[in-house]
Amino acid sequence: MRLSFGVVGARRGRVYMNCLRLLPECEVVALCDIDPDCLAETGERFEVPHRFRDYEQMLDSGLLNAVVVSTPQFLHAPQAIAALRRGIHVLSEVPGVVDLAQCCQLVDAVRASKSVYMMGENACYMPPNLLVRRMAEAGLFGEVYFAEAEYTHELKARSERTPWRLHWQVGINAITYPTHQLGPVVQWMKQRITSVACQGSGHHYRDPRGEWYAQEDCLLMLCKTDRGGLVKIRQDLLSDRPHITVAYSLQGTDGCYESSRRRAESDVAHVWLRGRSPDADTWLPLMDFAAEFLPESFRQASAEVARAGHGGSDYWVTREFVEVVRGERPLEMDLHFALDTSAPGVMSQQSLALNGAPVRVPDFRAYVSGSGMVP
Ligand SMILES: NC(=O)c1ccc[n+]([C@@H]2O[C@H](COP(=O)([O-])OP(=O)(O)OC[C@H]3O[C@@H](n4cnc5c(N)ncnc54)[C@H](O)[C@@H]3O)[C@@H](O)[C@H]2O)c1
Repeated sequence: MRLSFGVVGARRGRVYMNCLRLLPECEVVALCDIDPDCLAETGERFEVPHRFRDYEQMLDSGLLNAVVVSTPQFLHAPQAIAALRRGIHVLSEVPGVVDLAQCCQLVDAVRASKSVYMMGENACYMPPNLLVRRMAEAGLFGEVYFAEAEYTHELKARSERTPWRLHWQVGINAITYPTHQLGPVVQWMKQRITSVACQGSGHHYRDPRGEWYAQEDCLLMLCKTDRGGLVKIRQDLLSDRPHITVAYSLQGTDGCYESSRRRAESDVAHVWLRGRSPDADTWLPLMDFAAEFLPESFRQASAEVARAGHGGSDYWVTREFVEVVRGERPLEMDLHFALDTSAPGVMSQQSLALNGAPVRVPDFRAYVSGSGMVP
């Protein structure tokens, strides 16, 4: 099945266009961006034949059967819904939604459509994260009951260049960007976050206009799961510090995992595993388990794939989407994966406003179609 893609959002969209070049029978036929310069530059660089400044015109052009939504995050859900209503398959950037109303609207649209909706969380395809997932599925950690995940990415200057971030990423006191942390964690634990309690470290930075950011510098969210597990999430988009981006840990009854924080070459990910580690105190490098547990396609990946974006993870997300649309594999990063990893961040805003009191995270599987009522 040949896939004709449209891409909306011509900056992050470039990465997907790179990835689609590596996939057979996929073609980017249309590109959309409201910024004419960005549209022209990206369109020429990737030789995209049809260019639009209006998204709905691109969807109605009859040129595409799939779209990549890589616009600012408040547009992901409405643009996904507009495509699903026209029978166009959607690969959405993260997070899938920014508020509870969007959750309800997205459920309605996905349920009413025969097309694929996938939220492409690339952190799930970073090789260490996929390896930990396969090891957890093989039972090496025993019963998993605790995980930590951090996203520390100082975004003050970038928010000035892309002003939507001033509101949607650093301008709301909430975990506004939760899926890089929660995506891998929910896959490892196979548990749903049922409540969140979130607190912040206060305000220590002003924007270039001298105003305090609405978001506290460092936010910590404690999540309880439906099987009694505990997850600690950190988001820090404001503190002055070198880039680490993501870091994780996992604890189970038979083993534990500590990711690299990439501060030095020698700083690599480790595991301790009962029955595999020589004793109770010896960590083993995670990658020692790659030959046994990392899929061969990952181990044999070409340099082009590794260069395609975020260490190749953007390629694997794009490839998963293409294979799902072609019916070659089941959809994993589906509507409920999107909401299970995005909605805890939405609910953290309420918890912060309540000085850290726990608040329930709705399960949108129980949503009554067309009601607009949060379950
Ligand atoms: N998964 C990842 O690792 C990753 C990495 C970077 C960005 N992102 C996400 O990708 C998205 C885009 O990020 P970015 O860094 O490219 O942002 P950006 O601001 O650099 O680019 C967004 C582009 O969308 C265009 N745009 C805005 N509104 C539009 C509309 N209504 N119709 C068409 N085009 C419109 C803008 O003109 C701009 O060119 C964000 O949601 C971001 O969080 C994800």
